[in-house]
Amino acid sequence: MSPADPAGSLADALHGLAGHLRWQQALGFRELALSGDYLAGSPAVLRRLEAQIAGCTRCKLAGGRSTIVFGSGAPDARLVLIGEGPGEEEDRQGKPFVGRAGQKLTEMLASVGIARDEVYICNIVKCRPPGNRNPEPDEIAACAPFLAGQLRAIRPAVIGALGTFAAQTLLRTKEPISRLRGRLHPYAGAPGVVVIPTFHPAFILRNPGIEYRKQAFEDLKLIRREYDRVRGASGG
Ligand code: URA
Repeated sequence: MSPADPAGSLADALHGLAGHLRWQQALGFRELALSGDYLAGSPAVLRRLEAQIAGCTRCKLAGGRSTIVFGSGAPDARLVLIGEGPGEEEDRQGKPFVGRAGQKLTEMLASVGIARDEVYICNIVKCRPPGNRNPEPDEIAACAPFLAGQLRAIRPAVIGALGTFAAQTLLRTKEPISRLRGRLHPYAGAPGVVVIPTFHPAFILRNPGIEYRKQAFEDLKLIRREYDRVRGASGG
């Protein structure tokens, strides 16, 4: 069955649902709960997750941050962009990618005709690592349920991984970005979702030579192609 086969998709979903209901019945359930996360829309689930992370002290980044930078953008975006962690300006404003790297990201998206407000943007960790160092494993682990919750709520089809750190974390690999970029990777967290790594906008700012810019543009065109493909398939 291809994703462009809506009747097949629906039949599969109904088949799965029927199986689940029979299983619940076998367990003795006689009523359906008509409330709960599975019926809430993505904006409500995201709001609840954001409320849960408020005042978070689950890792040592809590001590140095001013603001938790949860994420922003369209709650039903088909494309989610994920960076490493908030920088100084993001920590001040409480929004992801609003500093210089953020301006560069906006430009990179615009170069392939994607507006910032049609996508969702967040980071691997939600609090600024001191001096913009890489997040550490315990910090990533502490934040992972929030990123997973965001992705479960939004259910994107395409994830753009911005930079080495985000790409390696999402793909659970140590391969360099130069080898990861430029192609689609299946996302282990959700079937059918693809991860497309590209250079971090801050890296492009630090390395303005034509070669990296050209490669980043190729990656963005690939993101655009996949984004168009999934929207075509879902009519979105
Ligand atoms: N760099 C990131 O990785 N994320 C931000 O939000 C800002 C800069």
